[in-house]
Amino acid sequence: MTRPLTFAIPKGRILNEALPLLAKAGIEPEAEFHDKKSRALRFATNRPDISIIRVRAFDVATFVAHGAAQIGIVGSDVVEEFDYSELYAPVDLDIGHCRLSVAEPQDAADEDEAALSHIRVATKYPQLTRKYYEARGLQAECVKLNGAMELAPSLGLSRRIVDLVSSGATLKANGLVETSIIMPVSARLIVNRAAYKMRSADLSPLVEAFRNAVEVRDAA
Ligand code: PRP
Repeated sequence: MTRPLTFAIPKGRILNEALPLLAKAGIEPEAEFHDKKSRALRFATNRPDISIIRVRAFDVATFVAHGAAQIGIVGSDVVEEFDYSELYAPVDLDIGHCRLSVAEPQDAADEDEAALSHIRVATKYPQLTRKYYEARGLQAECVKLNGAMELAPSLGLSRRIVDLVSSGATLKANGLVETSIIMPVSARLIVNRAAYKMRSADLSPLVEAFRNAVEVRDAA
């Protein structure tokens, strides 16, 4: 048998929505995957040719881009932020819907952005943030955070943040308002391009299985 495929799955919100799709695509992780106390990071599945690793969303893209995992599931925010040429994102899984937005305290939101030439933004998405402001003729200085961006304005780190917004509850709880939507986000199936060519007999049927799983789910 050839080496098993490694499938990278993100921790966090996408996971719960991804599991039924994985099941429809014929992949069921071993029981330990669901055990919150388990410290394991790599799991067997019902398919002897597929194992699963559970990592942070940004790391899903890194593992797959480097070919350490051949296939994975990750938000389009991460795909766009990294813009890795090695990543192929053939299927929009239509789960994990949210948006990447600019948020600020109400008083900052009333400022005239056009009058500014330079903007400081706390974000996990420096590339997308710079691109967004560049297109508006503004230079964005990004302060990179890995979470809890919503704290930045009240603590004087930056007036603005760029972060994912789903229900808006986190912004509200931290006294921020959403002022612009940079992009809508949903989860994608991603595949390493080189692996897709070299192991197409293994990977093409898997990509097809996900396409079908999405269709079957949406038709139900
Ligand atoms: C995300 C995001 C926001 C929050 C938005 O964080 O970074 O903080 O969800 O969701 P809401 O609009 O429904 O409140 P998440 O909880 O996924 O954790 P993270 O900070 O580790 O990314």
